[in-house]
Amino acid sequence: MTLHFKKESFRDDFTFSNSPEAIRRFPFPFEKDEYMYSVNIEQHMPGPAKSPFEFPIDIDEHYLAEMHDRALVLKEDPGRCQSLPHMITAEWDLVELLMESMAKHYPEHFQLTRDGDAWHWVNRPLGIDQRFTFGDTATLPRPPMEYITRQCQGDFALLDQRLGNLWMDSGMITGQADWSLDFDIGMNFMEWHAPVPLAKDMGVFERALKFLLNLQQGRPVRRLNWTMTINPRLDTSPENYDKWGRDRTTVTPENVGDKVHLRVELQAMWRLPRSNAIVFSIRAYMISMDELVTVPKWARRFHRVLRDVRGELAEYKGLSRYRDKTVAWLSRYDDGAPTSPGF
Ligand code: HEM
Repeated sequence: MTLHFKKESFRDDFTFSNSPEAIRRFPFPFEKDEYMYSVNIEQHMPGPAKSPFEFPIDIDEHYLAEMHDRALVLKEDPGRCQSLPHMITAEWDLVELLMESMAKHYPEHFQLTRDGDAWHWVNRPLGIDQRFTFGDTATLPRPPMEYITRQCQGDFALLDQRLGNLWMDSGMITGQADWSLDFDIGMNFMEWHAPVPLAKDMGVFERALKFLLNLQQGRPVRRLNWTMTINPRLDTSPENYDKWGRDRTTVTPENVGDKVHLRVELQAMWRLPRSNAIVFSIRAYMISMDELVTVPKWARRFHRVLRDVRGELAEYKGLSRYRDKTVAWLSRYDDGAPTSPGF
């Protein structure tokens, strides 16, 4: 598939936008007019052509801009990429997963040749041509996870499995929705989920953990999560709260369409073959309210979801300061017609 990569920014002048094709393939996450947490895990099967689910790893028009943004974040804060020493085998597993998938599904842009441990990787959009020995860190210019995730859209966490739990012992997290790898590293599944309201009492995390501990190799799973962002900013980390926190106070009835974005995370989980670790990918898609309302059924449904979402969730997701203004703006696009379930 030939992609045309856009020149755009996720900071400063915020030139990010979606082409009409990108709007059409946006992973709108709501199957009903209301939203509550659930164990919404499904097989990560190939989806419809051109959708974000077509291939296991989705590369799109924002690829180059996202990789540039990641490089800027890492330059300011190398701690966004961390890996404990016992995760090195999982790092190599990740190199294999990403290179194989990208080369297989986007052969115009990426190429992988393997001859035993002698690997040759070509990344045309980023101008990279690298020969290396698989498993030998000295043959790559950077540690394996950092090397490949500087070339792949989305954040990644590598989870070690031991003592009946998952441990966040490694990750490349540069575009996160207000959580910190530096804080969470070394924590287990229950610990890093502790700030989430309501879900614990609903048993969501017990069931999700039990499911993931039994995740089989070759049978990846996925789920969608959502939040909202003011301005199309990828890096909404606690580390940089001083840069983006105040944006939430800048929303007015006049600028909702341009400033307020729905952010959807396609989160996929794979069991890795050598390490038995799990990789958790967080691929973020953003859409402005102006773009979202070009699809009338999305406008109607999102108006109702946002209007009715429980206060605890709105507070946790950081929506409270601009929710009412956004709901009022969206109400113009909701004629009250019934919606079909499941789209
Ligand atoms: C939130 C990581 C799997 C449900 C979060 C947060 C992190 C995280 C870091 C933010 C917590 C904070 O506020 O500091 C992970 C990782 C996973 C994983 C690494 C892979 C093992 C799951 C699964 C579920 C789940 C399988 C299934 C239900 C949630 C929910 C939230 C959350 C509901 C709150 C999100 C929101 O309201 O925006 N997760 N998670 N997570 N996670 Fe997970």
